[in-house]
Amino acid sequence: MKLIAGNWKMNKTPSQTREYITKFLELVRDVKNTEILLCPPFTSLCVAGEMLKDSHIKLGAQNCHYEEKGAFTGEISLSMLKELGVSYVIVGHSERRWLFGETDEMINKKVIACLEKGLRPILCVGEKIEDRNAGMTLKVVESQLKLGLSGLEDLAGKIDIAYEPIWAIGTGTPATPEDAQFVHRFIKEFLGDVRVLYGGSVSPKNAKDFLSMPDVDGLLVGTASLDPESFAQIVKASE
Ligand code: G3P
Repeated sequence: MKLIAGNWKMNKTPSQTREYITKFLELVRDVKNTEILLCPPFTSLCVAGEMLKDSHIKLGAQNCHYEEKGAFTGEISLSMLKELGVSYVIVGHSERRWLFGETDEMINKKVIACLEKGLRPILCVGEKIEDRNAGMTLKVVESQLKLGLSGLEDLAGKIDIAYEPIWAIGTGTPATPEDAQFVHRFIKEFLGDVRVLYGGSVSPKNAKDFLSMPDVDGLLVGTASLDPESFAQIVKASE
């Protein structure tokens, strides 16, 4: 089944979350053939978890720590997330890598911790514009996959990958569906049977074009997921 995920990033208070989910549940009530995931900020997970618990919409976190508990000021463990109804965790988003200094080694520990706890990681990979211009896209993606998944085998059905070219994120300039297809194919040849989502300036206008590519198994949507109508249209493009 295709997965359409909304990454709200640092947007929406708990009351705005409540308002959004009230509308969104109604808009996607008839969606049957698509897996839907909302990833609000940590502070909204509690309210979102309560509202979504009897629905067909899954709840995800945007980050996690890999330790179980302890002196890690400001961090959130997987047990804390699990208790709120979280079943997915976005790991290694480029904003975490490049704005907050996450290394491939940390990302690898997070992926391992998620799998051990029975949460499904969405590992994000993607190249910078300089890499792309230098013809290094596949090399960069391969290295992020190798290091991020180091020590792990047989990942089929346990993990999703999101290909998010950094130059396409929040810019209004998405990759072409053909560009995405090319990299997604490579990822599947490298890893075997995993779902690969595309992220980067996805909108209600272009969602179908991406989803019509044979190796685009879903979308990770930022800006356009902040509005319930736009996100519902993107979800329905997958039906
Ligand atoms: O994780 C989703 C993301 O980084 C894409 O953001 O705003 O380009 O849809 P956006």
